[in-house]
Amino acid sequence: MTIGFFDSGIGGLTVLHQVLKLMPQEDYLFYADTDHVPYGEKTKEEVRAYILQAVEFIARQDITALVIACNTATSIVIEELRSRYTFPVLGIEPAVKPAVEQSEGQQQRVLVLATRLTLQEKKYHDLVHRIDPGERVDSLPLPGLVQYAEQFEFREEKIIPYLQKELAHLNLARYSTVVLGCTHFPYFEDSLRKVFPPGVKFISGSRGTARHLKQLLGTKGEINQGTGNIRYYRSGVEVDDSALLSKYDGLFKRLDVMEAAAADIPDRSSEGEFI
Ligand code: DGL
Repeated sequence: MTIGFFDSGIGGLTVLHQVLKLMPQEDYLFYADTDHVPYGEKTKEEVRAYILQAVEFIARQDITALVIACNTATSIVIEELRSRYTFPVLGIEPAVKPAVEQSEGQQQRVLVLATRLTLQEKKYHDLVHRIDPGERVDSLPLPGLVQYAEQFEFREEKIIPYLQKELAHLNLARYSTVVLGCTHFPYFEDSLRKVFPPGVKFISGSRGTARHLKQLLGTKGEINQGTGNIRYYRSGVEVDDSALLSKYDGLFKRLDVMEAAAADIPDRSSEGEFI
């Protein structure tokens, strides 16, 4: 059986990357809705329709579980998908809770980076309201990072000036923790580290989602059933272009390199939430 992954684009591979470490022996189907990326700058109604259409396609492929590897899609349709399908549907949401907990007792603040749509959704406001009574959380959309990731543009000389411009109105010394609340953003952790003061922690929800998925499939006895194969789809069309497939491999390697570099930084945490 195959585990389905869904995102508007290549962001979801940052979640699959963590899942592959825990469960290298499953089969995976990764669906990127590249005809409609970016979701974060569209209306909720428009995005909802795209997601339902894409998930209809994925559901026909005989999957054992579906991971909505997209914070934006999770905030809009996770409950609806759970009520429509019999297989388990896991999502990802900005890791605000661990970020607030980690920075407890400190004067410094938490900055949540996500898409505009995620940040304007009720689900996000409810989450922040629930776990941040001290009002220490600020939020900022960074739509340019989604576009850069989709263009496979990760060069620091391009990304750092963009980040500096978008963050110019904030006093970065006030933040102890930054939440990467969009699955496209972990690709840019190297540039982000150069823009924020040393010692700032970056947290994403992908490890939490990966652990949750493993636990879920483990209890159903559905682990180690495949060959480690990954099939990629772009808006319903299977990817067979070897140049593109090797670019996807390159993304996993990029994430490995950044993770190894970050492991040398004391006090780092990328533990996050799953839902
Ligand atoms: N990767 C997605 C997320 O986690 C959405 C990016 C987009 O399409 O704007 O929110």
